[in-house]
Amino acid sequence: MARVLDTSETGPGIRRLRIDAPRVARHWRAGQFVIIRPTDLSERIPLTIAAADRTAGWIEVIVQAVGRTTIEIAGTPAGGELADVVGPLGVPSDIEAYGHVVVVGGGVGTAVAYPTALALGRAGNRVTVIVGGRSRDLVILTDEMRAAGLEVVVTTDDGSAGRHGLVTDALAEIIEADPPDRVIAAGPIPMMRAVAAATRPYGIPTMASLNPIMVDGTGMCGGCRVRVDGEVRFACIDGPEFDAHKV
Ligand code: FES
Repeated sequence: MARVLDTSETGPGIRRLRIDAPRVARHWRAGQFVIIRPTDLSERIPLTIAAADRTAGWIEVIVQAVGRTTIEIAGTPAGGELADVVGPLGVPSDIEAYGHVVVVGGGVGTAVAYPTALALGRAGNRVTVIVGGRSRDLVILTDEMRAAGLEVVVTTDDGSAGRHGLVTDALAEIIEADPPDRVIAAGPIPMMRAVAAATRPYGIPTMASLNPIMVDGTGMCGGCRVRVDGEVRFACIDGPEFDAHKV
């Protein structure tokens, strides 16, 4: 059992949970995830660890309540318990000093990009984060990233916040004006595909976080099978980040 210490609203139907998990917090590195089973009768789902405090022994996850299991997790109140929280799992993001890095987060995928963006900033990179959402409510974590000293560009499909348009419009402008040394994308699959297409002609190394295709995160269901450079890989074991130009 793992106790939920605190919860807050990050957007409509999107909740942030702080969970008492000292062992996970101690071993966590940006890009890794946990598998959560909210009750003994629930399914297991993988969720990216958005933040952790090794000393205090907690981790945070951000969950969008869209199906039965995510609704159960999002609905767990402070003081409530989750049946299992297992991790950290997955290969951590590559964090080095690359120079200028653009991190692209789409919708709740921003929660996946967030810890990696912060870690890249701490490693001395100049980080520009492009955060996209359908509308203002679905643009998340921008205050936190600005507070950490990252440059944040917001795009919305309906123009209700930031610039009206897609994350790839903003990315194309950045590539033109100030070409990045590396791009990392986390969000819906079509968005990541479009990001890869935008950077490929310029040969900009690009990573895609394939969290959306993970099902149970255990390496057993086969749901996250993907072909990378002609070889079969599993997002939950070999990833979740892969070279976006080779997937
Ligand atoms: Fe089931 Fe990877 S999510 S095998």
